[in-house]
Amino acid sequence: EQAGKGEYDHYMLKEIYEQPTSLAQAIEGRVDSDSGEINLEDFPPGTFDDVDRVQFVACGTSYHAALYGSLALNQAGIQSQALLANEYSVSAPPVDENTLVIAVTQSGETADTLSALRQAQDEGAQTVTVTNVVGSTAARVADESLLIRAGPEIGVAATKTFSSQAVMLTLLGQRISADVSGDPAFDLESVLADLENLPEQFETVLAGSSAAEIAHQYEDSRSYFFIGRGLGFPVALEGALKFKEITYEHAEGFASGELKHGPLALVTPDTPVFAVFTGTEDEKTLKNAEEAQTRGAPVIAVCPDGHPATQVADAHLEIPDADSELAGLLANVQLQLVSYHAAELLDRPIDKPRNLAKSVTVE
Ligand code: AGP
Repeated sequence: EQAGKGEYDHYMLKEIYEQPTSLAQAIEGRVDSDSGEINLEDFPPGTFDDVDRVQFVACGTSYHAALYGSLALNQAGIQSQALLANEYSVSAPPVDENTLVIAVTQSGETADTLSALRQAQDEGAQTVTVTNVVGSTAARVADESLLIRAGPEIGVAATKTFSSQAVMLTLLGQRISADVSGDPAFDLESVLADLENLPEQFETVLAGSSAAEIAHQYEDSRSYFFIGRGLGFPVALEGALKFKEITYEHAEGFASGELKHGPLALVTPDTPVFAVFTGTEDEKTLKNAEEAQTRGAPVIAVCPDGHPATQVADAHLEIPDADSELAGLLANVQLQLVSYHAAELLDRPIDKPRNLAKSVTVE
């Protein structure tokens, strides 16, 4: 088993460090910033001409990637929702032949997600799956599939597949948005250039991360909060899921603005708050973080160097320039590393946390 881990103590750490490569694989041949073109194999321009709304179905980390993709589409003016696949059978919004349902699943075998996918299909929706596994059940059931090409992920905690899912959903979102509204979701040229730069930016974060020190600094805390706004919100949720999954410590993620609507009651000097700044109304997130700080909570700002949050925060996890819709993915790497190092300090079985399975094949 050690052979598979190479120089790393755990598969999770290896997979975190594989992200520059897995992201390069995800976009290879699919992105050309010189010509401004996207090549998505089975999804040429016009594929989604008759789509008028999009639903994403997924669970866990894949749900957070789906939320990332859905919020980006909403920002582009496309009607879109991210739905928990395990709630779909009881509360799915109506679908018809103009609805595109996108199942996001690393394994392609998650029972809840397959069930939602089949239900949507039975009700007449168009379906696509975004998966890591060629020939998986989801890939076979959906009308079409898009592979994230992240390579095998052994650690139960999903890491590299989250970033690859989010990247592929960003690309797919550009295509959907261009087909549905006539305009790409974001400035296409800059998105393509940002995508091409992303593997290198991941390298930078991985090479210079102070996550191990931060984990050590706050290791005696018993509850950890993660906040973010806009595309930083799914990153906050994902940061908390990863943290609780492998450390067994209490962790919760919130939309920054929600803190004052209840969770602030939990904030004390023993509850570090990781605040993710992705360039969307950062001044409001900073105010929310300061509200927690006033109650004694240490604030760890995940943001670029020189960002106003660094003047206020108690600690800083640096990411490259956040002025991009992919900034959240860079912040997520820092949070993955914090979780990893916190779990290591607690001597947890990081690759196989108790009670969890890599692929959940029961509903
Ligand atoms: C994430 O770290 C989890 N292990 C879990 O939430 C996972 O993302 C979820 O079970 C969905 O799995 P899938 O992507 O294979 O469908």
